[in-house]
Amino acid sequence: MDSVTPSVLITSVLNPNMRIFDVVMRTEYGTSYNSYAVIGSEKIALVDSSHLTFCEAYFDHLDAALAGRVPDYLVMNHTEPDHSGTVAALVERYPDIIIVISQAGAIYLKNITNRADLKLQIVKDGDSLDLGGKTLHFMIAPFLHWPDTMFTWLPEEKVVFTCDFLGAHYCEPQLFDSKVTYREAYVGAVKNYFDCIFGPFKGYVLKGLDRLATIDPQFVCTSHGPILTAGVEYQRNLERYRQWATVEPCANKRIPVFYCSAYGNTERLASHVARGLLRGLPSAEVTCYDLNQHDLSELAAALNDSDAFLLGSPTINRDALPPVWNLLACVDAVAIAKRPVALFGSYGWSGEAIPHLTNRLTDLKAAVFADALRVQFTPTADDLAAAEKLGEDFARSLPAGCC
Ligand SMILES: Cc1cc2nc3c(=O)[nH]c(=O)nc-3n(C[C@H](O)[C@H](O)[C@H](O)COP(=O)(O)O)c2cc1C
Ligand SMILES: [Fe+2]
Ligand SMILES: [Fe+2]
Repeated sequence: MDSVTPSVLITSVLNPNMRIFDVVMRTEYGTSYNSYAVIGSEKIALVDSSHLTFCEAYFDHLDAALAGRVPDYLVMNHTEPDHSGTVAALVERYPDIIIVISQAGAIYLKNITNRADLKLQIVKDGDSLDLGGKTLHFMIAPFLHWPDTMFTWLPEEKVVFTCDFLGAHYCEPQLFDSKVTYREAYVGAVKNYFDCIFGPFKGYVLKGLDRLATIDPQFVCTSHGPILTAGVEYQRNLERYRQWATVEPCANKRIPVFYCSAYGNTERLASHVARGLLRGLPSAEVTCYDLNQHDLSELAAALNDSDAFLLGSPTINRDALPPVWNLLACVDAVAIAKRPVALFGSYGWSGEAIPHLTNRLTDLKAAVFADALRVQFTPTADDLAAAEKLGEDFARSLPAGCC
């Protein structure tokens, strides 16, 4: 039986074949659904659970860890179904199990399982649970990854369970960071995970890091990817998270220009818009992104970290193109409010792309620039000049300072 310490046993399930998580997140290296059993002299607590698809493997691992003993508690640090999918089956197996959970988590878990018979023990920040010689201390850590999240600290073993926080969709047969074979790939997976899961919650990430600074763990048991060890990847991941979550006040405005183009018309507008932006604001950092040439997570990061942005789409079948909508599906809904955005695109006869995008961005509460540019079919020299003017006017309209 794999273990973190003699009384913290590993019941994780590996899923090396997963390539897409939560519908939108690409996961090149698979993942693991980590879970644990903490054995006290009086009581046993399971920490986190598993994905329903892997229920059988999870129960096999539980049986091996528990060797006939019955768990008293299930600590649910976070209720997303990749960790709560097996809860209903677990309750069938162990009808007396008490689920230790945050207030928000209790509400979600009731609605996720649709069971009224769950035995819930709601904990607040600072509460603890004595298992006999092993004490679980609960630290509420909202939005890491959902509002329900908490960390569980086991001081006697110097082990903290952080669920998604500091984790990665990364799977190797070895369960510890010290054993990772492809370290560069692992670090890439940590970054991808941070961008997709925690990118929208940077302020909460910094608070989570501050909470972890109050304890001194030897092992950090995340719910995905290798277990972190002090002196191996733990401190490095803390530093990485702090760096990625800290939005540096920048001297120059970042103004990406995103576009899609079937026949190159919108693309030509994009390059002239970019030229105009630099005329209006020579210090701006302007990057043009063809939406079909970049990874969605890279595009989303460029959009979410921008001070202002432009979006270009042709009209195809009375709409903007799917890559444009995919990008807008990734915006940080909180941070996009009041973000200046301007629109442009080529069309043939009806030109619905720009009005549709205007509506969507207005719904998202972005500051949509009034003068969008719509050009019929191939841009003329005048149209290209208008594109440059759009860029220049938009740049000049931006408030001083960075977002
Ligand atoms: C399959 C297809 C469907 C189209 N549907 C529309 C449409 O519904 N309304 C419209 O105004 N233009 C439509 N167009 C015309 C394009 O918007 C026009 O060719 C435009 O210049 C393409 O710009 P691009 O080169 O940036 O892709 C369509 C073009 C194609 C190829
Ligand atoms: Fe999650
Ligand atoms: Fe998760």
